[in-house]
Amino acid sequence: MIRTRLLLDRDYVVAPLDRRVFGALVEHVGRCVYGGIFEPGHPQADERGLRRDVLALTRELGVSIVRYPGGNFVSGYDWEDGVGPVDQRPVRLDLAWQSTESNRFGTNEFVAWCRAANVEPMLAVNLGTRGAQAAREFVEYCNHPGGSALADRRRGHGMEAPHDIRAWCLGNEMDAPWQIGQKTAAEYGRLARETAHLMRAVSPGIALVACGSSNRDLRGYGRWENEVLEHCFEQVDFLSVHAYFENPHADTQEFLGNIDRLDLQIREVAAIADAVAARRRSPKRVMLAVDEWNIWYKARFGEHARQPGWPRAPRLLEETYNFEDALAAGGALSVLMNHADRVKVACLAQLVNAIGAIRTEPGGGAWRQTIFHPFALAARHARGEVLRPVIDAPVLRGQTHPEMPALVASASHDPATGRTAIFALNRDLRSEQELKIELRGFAPVAAIVESLQLHHADMKATNSADAPGTVAPLPLEAVAVLGATLRVRLRPASWNVLVLSHVPP
Ligand code: AHR
Repeated sequence: MIRTRLLLDRDYVVAPLDRRVFGALVEHVGRCVYGGIFEPGHPQADERGLRRDVLALTRELGVSIVRYPGGNFVSGYDWEDGVGPVDQRPVRLDLAWQSTESNRFGTNEFVAWCRAANVEPMLAVNLGTRGAQAAREFVEYCNHPGGSALADRRRGHGMEAPHDIRAWCLGNEMDAPWQIGQKTAAEYGRLARETAHLMRAVSPGIALVACGSSNRDLRGYGRWENEVLEHCFEQVDFLSVHAYFENPHADTQEFLGNIDRLDLQIREVAAIADAVAARRRSPKRVMLAVDEWNIWYKARFGEHARQPGWPRAPRLLEETYNFEDALAAGGALSVLMNHADRVKVACLAQLVNAIGAIRTEPGGGAWRQTIFHPFALAARHARGEVLRPVIDAPVLRGQTHPEMPALVASASHDPATGRTAIFALNRDLRSEQELKIELRGFAPVAAIVESLQLHHADMKATNSADAPGTVAPLPLEAVAVLGATLRVRLRPASWNVLVLSHVPP
């Protein structure tokens, strides 16, 4: 048994929680779109071909914003191919994933899906094979009310009202060697600046995300962010951060160190953005969009990434998540919340099938992967303001992550409902944790509204079509309350949620 302490003070607020941190990515890759959110003829499909079971799970997941259509796919995509009469849309080769793209699903279908799922659409423009003019035309097609050829083309396609897309990504991973149209930082920075200028001229209120590095291991990491922002600092609102957790040594303790690595990456990118601001004597703060994050290492390479013969909607990137992946996802969500002053958008990559929180079978069922659960619980209960957690916990030692506190935690307080939500990961794989939570400046606890734990004896346990509930939240019973102090027993390797109400003043 180890003893840990979490102090939350009503006056220590990081920032209001931006609901957009509970976003996701839907890319034209594998079976994310075709056979994922869209499967005409499926018994659960509506008249538009949207799978109702996937829509219901998306709502349950609590996703707030969805980035589309990629990912790598967008860097070779002509948005014009995906609008207009379906039977006139061209079939294309998708070079990013070596697949055949039917274009039966495009921007208007995506916006319709977003409205049905009750999520905000976030679109990416192609800065790989296209440029500023195509991006500006895409914005005009989507956002201009009418009276111009492009806006009237949208209306002619049955979309009378503008889509009013607020958030736009200026390309995707433009530093990456695998990216179609990879650019140097100078080339991309200038292109992002020119593209932003034209897009804003059409639709002034939009928020723009410039590409940060594709990952922290690329040689140019840091220098890329610096130089890109030197070119487009004034034009953009966000810089992207991409982070995929890997487990190269099949070592659970090391794997959970990825949580600290994400924390470090966010601090580093924010520091670089602020250095660019400082050189300009600018008070502006470029915010971060962690618009791709997840666990991804089991179905990443070889046949998981490419299949011969240009197949349609092949089974690509179909990572089956296990229990330890859910622990890592839970820890990552705490990191994102704890940076609420800087991270205003984050997208779990991805939503369905391809590294997806939801898995489906063609013509068959849909189920929750293990990582679905921490995301859904955090999205449901984290509300209002994020509190700064002060943590006192023994340190676990790993090779690549030499000092990992055994407790990873985050908390929010919602002045509207008076509820406090606490998310706590016991990263110690062997020892139970007696966690003392001190709530300073809060009224005494009136009731425990929710107390759940995610725990399984087998780190490699997974959910499947036949056993969809193998890894699922269970009641957390060992909670004692004394005024504004709680004592909770956290099982080894467990992710836990507590939601409290307080005695009214
Ligand atoms: O999410 C899968 C891929 O990972 C995306 O297409 C790309 O942006 C990243 O490299």
